Amino acid sequence: MIKNVALFIVVSLLISCNISSKKGDKKESKKPTTKEYALIGKQYALSTKKVLGKNLMTAIQKEGTIAALKFCNNNAYSLVDSMSVLYNASIKRVSDKPRNKKNTANAEELKHITSFKTKVLNKQKINPFVKDNGDKVTFYAPIITNGMCLQCHGTLEKELQPTVFSEIKKLYPEDKAVGYAANEVRGIWSITFIKKPK
Ligand code: HEC
Repeated sequence: MIKNVALFIVVSLLISCNISSKKGDKKESKKPTTKEYALIGKQYALSTKKVLGKNLMTAIQKEGTIAALKFCNNNAYSLVDSMSVLYNASIKRVSDKPRNKKNTANAEELKHITSFKTKVLNKQKINPFVKDNGDKVTFYAPIITNGMCLQCHGTLEKELQPTVFSEIKKLYPEDKAVGYAANEVRGIWSITFIKKPK
């Protein structure tokens, strides 16, 4: 966490240095470029993922899958949300098959999830990207499953234990986030910045 914050400060400094060194070309110079938004977006997604991942792994190792599930239920959403406050950007982790309804992808996000999925199917490289919407800029990055995820997002009777499954159903009666295999698109990071005025 400390390391991430430090990295973030370094990135911010780099960006602000870059901006001030371009003072000569006036006006446009204060706005971060698309590349810089991509860099910041990546950093925010990475550090939020690390905070989530570290807490999740600790919970699984210390107390097992069900306790970890409860931990996610109580904390995942607010953890992501608190990173939004820390970074002053809207940081969302959304899915086409959400567990928590609050993580439902909107129309635009669904479009990008579909295109990431197509790329994975065709074994193409999937890269994060930035989309400029005038006064806002959004960074999108895929969230891919690995074997560890399947104890809570896998297939019942395979990776997903019946006791874990029934706890999921208790906490999320409308859960859609099961049946995944490893290396599938589970969702995306959607990080929106309000552009600074010129
Ligand atoms: C211990 C159980 C558990 C494990 C392991 C787990 N998750 Fe989840 N996951 C959850 C729970 C519970 C939620 C809902 C959290 C909430 O209420 O916001 C969730 C939500 C998510 C979401 C947000 C969208 C949604 O469906 O609400 C994504 C994306 C996600 N998980 C991806 C992953 C990935 C990728 C892995 C593996 C690296 C993983 N999860 C491992 C339990 C787990």
